[in-house]
Amino acid sequence: MNEKQRVESQKVQANNSSDKKSDKDYSKYFETVYVAPNLKDAKKRGKESVQYHKDFNIPEEFYGLGNGRKFYIRTYGCQMNEHDTEVMAGIFEALGYEATETVEDANVILLNTCAIRENAENKVFGEIGHLKALKKNNPDVLLGVCGCMSQEESVVNRILNKHHHIDMIFGTHNIHRLPHLLKEAYMSKEMVIEVWSKEGDVIENLPKVRKGNIKGWVNIMYGCDKFCTYCIVPYTRGKERSRRPDDIIQEVRQLAALGYKEITLLGQNVNAYGKDFEDIEYGLGHLMDEIRKIDIARIRFTTSHPRDFDDHLIDVLAKGGNLVDHIHLPVQSGSTDVLKIMARKYSRERYLELVRKIKEAMPNVSLTTDIIVGFPNETDEQFEETLSLYREVEFDSAYTFIYSPREGTPAAKMEDNIPMEVKKERLQRLNALVNEVSAKKLKEYEGQVVEVLVEGESKNNPDVLAGYTSKNKLVNFKGPKSAIGQLVKVKVLEAKTWTLNGEMITETVEVN
Ligand code: SAH
Ligand code: SF4
Ligand code: F3S
Repeated sequence: MNEKQRVESQKVQANNSSDKKSDKDYSKYFETVYVAPNLKDAKKRGKESVQYHKDFNIPEEFYGLGNGRKFYIRTYGCQMNEHDTEVMAGIFEALGYEATETVEDANVILLNTCAIRENAENKVFGEIGHLKALKKNNPDVLLGVCGCMSQEESVVNRILNKHHHIDMIFGTHNIHRLPHLLKEAYMSKEMVIEVWSKEGDVIENLPKVRKGNIKGWVNIMYGCDKFCTYCIVPYTRGKERSRRPDDIIQEVRQLAALGYKEITLLGQNVNAYGKDFEDIEYGLGHLMDEIRKIDIARIRFTTSHPRDFDDHLIDVLAKGGNLVDHIHLPVQSGSTDVLKIMARKYSRERYLELVRKIKEAMPNVSLTTDIIVGFPNETDEQFEETLSLYREVEFDSAYTFIYSPREGTPAAKMEDNIPMEVKKERLQRLNALVNEVSAKKLKEYEGQVVEVLVEGESKNNPDVLAGYTSKNKLVNFKGPKSAIGQLVKVKVLEAKTWTLNGEMITETVEVN
């Protein structure tokens, strides 16, 4: 922790006085690591430039900390969290820890959490509850909570008050501090808490243990400045900071050299990539135009915000090649009035205009989206507008959610006045439409030949292989195990609601 963060640190006011830990004077925690989150600070957007640390190394004194020990990380939430888990796994292994898939074998267990909706948080609290028994049987196991929930003071307070078996809490901006935090947690009898409410700098050169060797994630930017009124992410992930193009390109080249076939460029709002550079005019379009020249079969990116989706990017994507013909373009609602209160900063008409431009440039594009139903004051008519927009665009599929108020966001101050039955009914109607359109679109594949990146055996049947098309359709088919990790041609025999079944028709196609 640097001096700045120490000064900005906040003391948690534990609010349950009948609780043993809350009677304590927390100031003594400063002897160990104790920095608690503050959503108000997290909301601030300073003007200071992003600092890049290109030479990050784990200090030698921590080497061997994990010798003879095993770690287990459970990941909730989005791809950003999945990738953070890969970085933490990299740090653990650099320290000498070994990965385990069995909680009972682990010496350290981390929950990498998601705060996006209440049910995401409830799942984590359920798991924290379960871990209590494990800690009782094995008091030496170290239990940690990290990720987006740690950035919320209400969560940290609740853990401090009710879940004394947790040993450490840290946030999304300081995962590179994991070695220090582990060391502190081993030495301290108290809960180690270090959550920075000001975003950290951009740290390059962090170790990573990737989950697979076929598809890889590459961060292009961190944070979000959009502040959609319902969303907690700008508070949990801080301000938008882009990685430098050279660092990204180098990482993609490395993955290509290692034989990866697909990469996904990651950011909460990748279309804002480069807006924070002070020295160069460089956006996502420029980056994609460079990356498409790298010899790797497929390049995806997620997630796009419609507002920043510019014509240059459309032109670059239309060049095709390894840039896939799938765009995830969250719309959230089909009603201009609702979009306004959500602060999405586009109208129904502008969204449809963007879709029209994209389809004109990329006639075969597959579009998917995110939709929230039951936002405060959403009327039946406004919900109908969402359905009609869905029909008009004919999305390939969608993630659909019931609105969940998040403490600290502007929408949480509005009355959550749509009854749960109505929200559920709207969700059901929307999902029925999503399924209908998806099934119709998949049906069109019957008899066609698609290119599939084979990921492995199907989850339900080891005799069947599974993989995805460039449009992200899951295909199950019979084929030799040697096809795993390769791009192969599959003839689609049958379309299900969500997946395609087929048979492989050629030998594997080597692309690299
Ligand atoms: N950065 C991405 C979204 C990340 S969150 C983007 O803007 O596209 C993924 C999805 O969760 C959002 O698109 C939204 O549909 C949903 N979501 C976010 N906050 C929510 C809330 N408070 N209640 C319900 N759904 C929410
Ligand atoms: Fe949340 Fe909006 Fe940012 Fe997406 S763009 S992460 S929905 S605030
Ligand atoms: Fe969840 Fe944080 Fe991702 S809130 S959706 S894990 S950025």
